[in-house]
Amino acid sequence: MLSNNNKSIIIYFSRADENYAVGNIDKGNTEVIAEYIQELTGADLFKVEPKKPYSKNYKECCDEALEEKNKNARPELKKYLSDISDYSTIYIGSPIYWGTMPMSMFTELEKLDFTGKTIRVFTTHEGSGLGNVVNDVKRICKGATVLDSISIQGSMVNKSKEKIKNWINELNISK
Ligand SMILES: Cc1cc2nc3c(=O)[nH]c(=O)nc-3n(C[C@H](O)[C@H](O)[C@H](O)COP(=O)(O)O)c2cc1C
Repeated sequence: MLSNNNKSIIIYFSRADENYAVGNIDKGNTEVIAEYIQELTGADLFKVEPKKPYSKNYKECCDEALEEKNKNARPELKKYLSDISDYSTIYIGSPIYWGTMPMSMFTELEKLDFTGKTIRVFTTHEGSGLGNVVNDVKRICKGATVLDSISIQGSMVNKSKEKIKNWINELNISK
C-alpha cells in the first residue's frame, strides 16, 4: 500500500472534569488545542485514554497521577495506536502532570516507531510550560526530529488560537 507522506496525526491526552484553574470543564484544555490543530491542518486525531480513568475530583486525580509517576507505571489504555507509518508529522499534545506527561502517554509513545518522523510538541500547563516533556519525547521517540514546541497556559486555551495558528504556519514556511 502506498503511504501519503504528507499526512499528520495528533496524539494527545486530555482530561475533562474538575480542573486546577477553570473549575469543571466539559472538554480538557489540551483537547481544545488538539481539535484546533486538526481544524487548521486536517491531521488525524488519536486520544490516549487510560482504561482506568482518573478521578473526576482534582485532588484525587493529582494523587493518582503522582503515584503512577513515582512507580514509573505504564497504565493500560482503552485502545492503542500501533502504526504511524502513514504519517510524516506527529503532533504530541499533553497536559503537564507533575512536570511531564501523564504516564499513559509514555505507554502509547513507547509502542511506536518514530524513525524519520517529524514531531511537534504542545503542552498545556499552569506554570510549568513545557516541563520535561520535550526531553522525554526525545528520549522515547528515537529517530525523530523534534521541531520547535509550544506551551499554552490551560486557562488561556480559548484565547490562544492566533498563537497556535502562527506556530503551525512556522512549519509550513520552513518546509
Ligand atoms: C494530576 C495533575 C498534575 C498537574 N501537574 C502540573 C504541573 O506539574 N505543572 C503545571 O504547570 N501544571 C500542572 N497541572 C495542571 C495541568 O497541566 C493543566 O490544568 C492542563 O491544562 C490540563 O490539561 P487538560 O485539561 O487537557 O487535561 C496538573 C494537573 C493535574 C490534573
